[in-house]
Amino acid sequence: MRSGPGLAPRPRAVDWTILAALTLALATGLLSLTAGSAGDAWLVVLHGIGGLALVVLVYWKLRRVWPRLAAAASDRTVALSALLAAMTLAVLATGVAWALGATPDLWGWTLLTLHAVLGVLIVPLALYHLLRRARPPTRADWEGRRTALQYAGLAAVGALAYRGQKALTAALGTTGADRRFTGSNPEGGTGNRFPVTNWMLDDPDPIDAGEWRLRVVGRVERPLALGYGDLPTVSGESGASASDGIEAGAGAGNAAGAVVSAPAAVERATLDCTSGWYVERDWQGVRVGALLDAAGPAGDGRFVTFRSVTGYRFGVPLSEARDVVLATHVDGERLTHGHGFPLRVVAPERRGFQWVKWVVAVEVRERPDPGQWLAIFLSGVDAE
Ligand code: HEM
Repeated sequence: MRSGPGLAPRPRAVDWTILAALTLALATGLLSLTAGSAGDAWLVVLHGIGGLALVVLVYWKLRRVWPRLAAAASDRTVALSALLAAMTLAVLATGVAWALGATPDLWGWTLLTLHAVLGVLIVPLALYHLLRRARPPTRADWEGRRTALQYAGLAAVGALAYRGQKALTAALGTTGADRRFTGSNPEGGTGNRFPVTNWMLDDPDPIDAGEWRLRVVGRVERPLALGYGDLPTVSGESGASASDGIEAGAGAGNAAGAVVSAPAAVERATLDCTSGWYVERDWQGVRVGALLDAAGPAGDGRFVTFRSVTGYRFGVPLSEARDVVLATHVDGERLTHGHGFPLRVVAPERRGFQWVKWVVAVEVRERPDPGQWLAIFLSGVDAE
């Protein structure tokens, strides 16, 4: 099937534009994993438009090389090129299917997770393909008013397809119509009733509230060690026995008076998981600002890292940390172990993987902690 004479740019221009679009889609896709506030929405929009333009580019390319692919499939380089083409089609198909509202359960994975993993797996194949086949473009490949019009048309098709797809999901009322700007679908429910997802190897034993301590350390004037009973109590707790019988103020004690006497903070916030779902809940607990006021950050303390019992950790600037709530409860129910009992980070405008669970330390630091990105992969490794 032909798309009509003159619609496709010159072959080499198509090839290099595919590389550019793939790079754009991969970069915006990966960056979208940390998109938490509405101001980041453009990343996902650009991802969608670039990805949909890629559908047209891949069609032009396959139409051109198909006879060669089929004829030389036994050649290793050509076979790997065919695999790259198949993977690219799979990435495009899973992305579009997710955006249209498809939510099959793939043995515990969401379609979005499969989409992202396939997208990353394309990288080595694309690099090999580049090394073996790339020929640098010449100025002649891009010249002419027609080429400019062809590219304008391509961008318009990407943008129109994106708008059209939004209108279609809204008209059909599929799950995709309720997607957040991050691409996540609503999970609904109340309290603890939402999926439990852990990063990599994180799988600690349930924590004994009587033994547990929260340490506020690092660049602070008065380090704190709080017990569960030192945290503000949540009135009208439901769904679990209150605080394992621990009375307020009966924890580790020291300098915790201000924290204990403060009423429980309540934060309505959206937990948005990068595997593609979100829930909006009321989270109750202690405001990190109250902990910092009690501990007195040193003048050079500018970042705050939240550390889990597993070694997993994540940090934010101190000014943002003040608004973070360390939650003991969700919708008035005590957090379950799976959701991070006794304490989990609730950081509005951050993604779920940054909402550290089973928090045991709040560390005030001078500088950000780049090691947190490594800890994502290593935390829980030494667990029994
Ligand atoms: C080379 C790699 C990739 C390509 C070509 C690609 C392409 C696409 C396409 C065509 C769509 C459908 C857009 C639409 O119809 O609105 C899509 C959706 C999406 N992709 Fe990718 N993608 C890639 C990698 C990734 C990665 C690594 C992530 C990271 C999580 C990701 C996250 C998403 C998300 C969140 C959506 C849904 C957007 C929405 O619902 O509006 N993608 N992708």
